[in-house]
Amino acid sequence: MNPTILVTGGAGYIGAHACVTLIAAGFTPLVLDNLCNSSAESLRRVGRITGVEPRLIVADIRDAQALDALFAAQPVAAVMHFAGLKAVGESTRDPLRYHDNNVAGSIGLLQAMQRAAVRTLIFSSSATVYGEPGFEQFREDMRCDPVNPYGRGKWMIEQMLGDLAASEAGWRIAALRYFNPVGAHASGLIGEDPRGAPDNLMPAITQVAVGRLPKLRVFGGDWPTPDGSGVRDYIHVMDLAEGHVAALRHLLAHDPTLLTLNLGSGHGISVLQMLRAFEQVLGRALPCEIVARRPGDIAAYWADPTLAANVLGWRTQRDLHAMCRDAWRWQQANPRGYASA
Ligand code: NAD
Ligand code: WQD
Repeated sequence: MNPTILVTGGAGYIGAHACVTLIAAGFTPLVLDNLCNSSAESLRRVGRITGVEPRLIVADIRDAQALDALFAAQPVAAVMHFAGLKAVGESTRDPLRYHDNNVAGSIGLLQAMQRAAVRTLIFSSSATVYGEPGFEQFREDMRCDPVNPYGRGKWMIEQMLGDLAASEAGWRIAALRYFNPVGAHASGLIGEDPRGAPDNLMPAITQVAVGRLPKLRVFGGDWPTPDGSGVRDYIHVMDLAEGHVAALRHLLAHDPTLLTLNLGSGHGISVLQMLRAFEQVLGRALPCEIVARRPGDIAAYWADPTLAANVLGWRTQRDLHAMCRDAWRWQQANPRGYASA
């Protein structure tokens, strides 16, 4: 019997890729998603890739009855908790919606897990919990001081997980701090499908390439970085998904623990380097303009991925070329995302 893993937010960008890696690793993903930022088509595509379409329960993580019914209906070995809202700017404009969905939603999920005695959890945290620590390479033992409501919510949840693990024996928890996930499954069948104008760099680039946006706006050319554009640690979404399976295997095989791990490549890439790498894949130049810095951005940061390598034996495998090639394959085949189907 393949152990069942509850995947909250499993119809979303990272969750759908995690479903693919879970199935490949011999687990059965069971997805709970309210589809507020995704479509069930992603899971049909997971079915085309793997031969197994994950079961979808359309429900909200704040729905205690739905969670209780789900846990009562089958044994669940662990939970991967991706469900959440993720737009930093929106969180500043509507913090209560973010804290209700992300923080209160996580509390509801944890309470339901407690009722069902399911105590193995992988939580989607973010490098945004670090804030602006004054160093470029972020390590897990650095002080966290997030600078926006989205990040503060993730940090509140991490702290809550610490309190929970200290209060009750048996919890196996991994809080994974993602850096900048990009790219898509190599099939081009699943990928990132933002609603409305994209906030993030890679979907902005692919939408320019496919003609949905007139040009790429590069936010700032005067950062104190080698080429003046912002530097981040981009991680291929399949590497990220495989990191989740490595964390799951680790948790299931070890004594109860609380792990906090960076998932990143350890390398900084600038906006202009990313654009050039993408143009190489595309075979043509893209229109772009250097505009003012985006409020809230910082110059440069990347992960120290040593701890994840030491604890999980996991490190990234896919390079910048693969990130651009796979993001483009997805966007080219699905110019309007899943709505193109
Ligand atoms: P996404 O929006 O594509 O996926 C999130 C999924 O959660 C969506 O399918 C959405 O419908 C669902 N969801 C949201 N609120 C819900 C609720 N209350 N109940 C049930 N389902 C709900 O986002 P993603 O990029 O796949 O991100 C997944 C997780 O990783 C999020 O928690 C996000 O904060 C975190 N994260 C993302 C990034 C990134 O850059 N993509 C970086 C760091 C952390
Ligand atoms: C990357 C770089 C921009 C768009 C955000 C969240 C973070 C995490 C990942 C969830 C920066 C520049 C971008 C564009 C540009 N998400 N850029 N033109 O801001 O590093 O991180 O997503 O947890 O919490 O804050 O990612 O992709 O928006 O930006 O020049 O159209 O690209 O200024 O230097 P960011 P991003």
